[in-house]
Amino acid sequence: MSPRPRPARADRPEPQPRRSRPPRGRDARATTPQRGDRRPDRRPAPARTPATHRVEVTFLPGLADVVAAEVTELLAPASPPVPVPGRDDTLTFAHRGPLDDPRLLGLRTAVAVFAVLTFDVPRPKSLTSGEHLPRIAAALDASARLGARRTFRFEAAGRESSVFQRLATLLSEASRMDHHADDGEILVRFRRTPGSRAGGTGGARGADRTGGAGGVDRAGAGGGDAGWDVLVRLGGPPLSARTWRVADYPGAVNATIAAAIARLAGVRAGDRVANLMCGSGTLLVERLLAGPAAVAVGVDMSAEAVDATRENVAAAGLTERVRLDVADVLEPGGTWRDAGPFDLVLVDPPWGTTHGSHATSAAVHARLLEAAHAVCAPGGRLVVLTHEITVMERCLRVASGLWQERAAVRVFAKGHHPRIYLLDRR
Ligand SMILES: C[S@@+](CC[C@H](N)C(=O)[O-])C[C@H]1O[C@@H](n2cnc3c(N)ncnc32)[C@H](O)[C@@H]1O
Repeated sequence: MSPRPRPARADRPEPQPRRSRPPRGRDARATTPQRGDRRPDRRPAPARTPATHRVEVTFLPGLADVVAAEVTELLAPASPPVPVPGRDDTLTFAHRGPLDDPRLLGLRTAVAVFAVLTFDVPRPKSLTSGEHLPRIAAALDASARLGARRTFRFEAAGRESSVFQRLATLLSEASRMDHHADDGEILVRFRRTPGSRAGGTGGARGADRTGGAGGVDRAGAGGGDAGWDVLVRLGGPPLSARTWRVADYPGAVNATIAAAIARLAGVRAGDRVANLMCGSGTLLVERLLAGPAAVAVGVDMSAEAVDATRENVAAAGLTERVRLDVADVLEPGGTWRDAGPFDLVLVDPPWGTTHGSHATSAAVHARLLEAAHAVCAPGGRLVVLTHEITVMERCLRVASGLWQERAAVRVFAKGHHPRIYLLDRR
């Protein structure tokens, strides 16, 4: 007599595979209807809804519109991104695709992208259960695959507590990644679910402007009785930390602002682009990474700055597309002018005392508006990023016969509030 099969024990769930992959090749043929397959019933198959994942994108306050436009263009979510309540630096949307979708790391105006996992649990301790842990491990896995990273760290009030220590150990086992409490590459943040009973309004909190998670929940591991979110930063380091930046330069503009400037100015393949006072070339590099240009020129009066641009341009793989010159752009001369007239002029003049002085900034801005006009083609555009708002406004009034202001966008970055002026040549 053959033994009767043992009934499955209700208290011991069957082991589940950690991830289920869609079948490929012959296996896919076995499960996917092929042309000519007979259907038992001729009714149309129900439309498949692609898997979606809740995602939060952090950015520098002031850039919400340009970030939302980039998300929509690049990722085409079913609904446009919306602000996370109470935050001016975080948008959220349902991403139609896997969490290890490389397009998520292609957002150039974003500081960081987080996968958001929401758990209906009263306290972080419950996340250690076999029911929840695999979801967190899977998101960590996706982030690791995207960025080729192997370490993670927690950001949470009370992350030294025994609950978080245990969670770190379990996650490490489940994901086969190492927990480095202080310098883990993939940031995993814990917060109460916004809008839940005890939840606050915490978004992914890019507010520390590094793509980190500035504020953390005060509840700690003890918790209350609301839901909890786990946010996993995708790809490891913040997106704003560009791999092309091999040469640092004092006063270099944040690369996400530069990417926003490129988009606000309009990316046109036929544009002849000049980056005046280019410093280490951030505006030029981000413009060229956004799309082709007919001509691209970088010029600065400092040879050291032009060397920094050269190194960054090379690291970005753009050397063949760029011409560089050492010259005073407020004075006549310089070989860079030969590449003009320009359809797009980009500039962030000196601010503070790093490359200039407040005393000279009025003269520099006034002369810059004139110099840019002289090298700009009819119908051309000028974008000025400046911290000297009062000075710039005054100079623009004086130069109203040269430039028409199309828009001004205020950005918040590291305690500074520069403004992006989009100007059309008259
Ligand atoms: C704020 S920094 C530009 C930083 C740059 N956007 C970057 O990301 O590295 C201003 C630059 O203007 C340059 N500069 C100042 N006056 C200039 C002039 N008259 N002609 C050319 N360059 C000038 C300085 O050498 C400095 O590199």
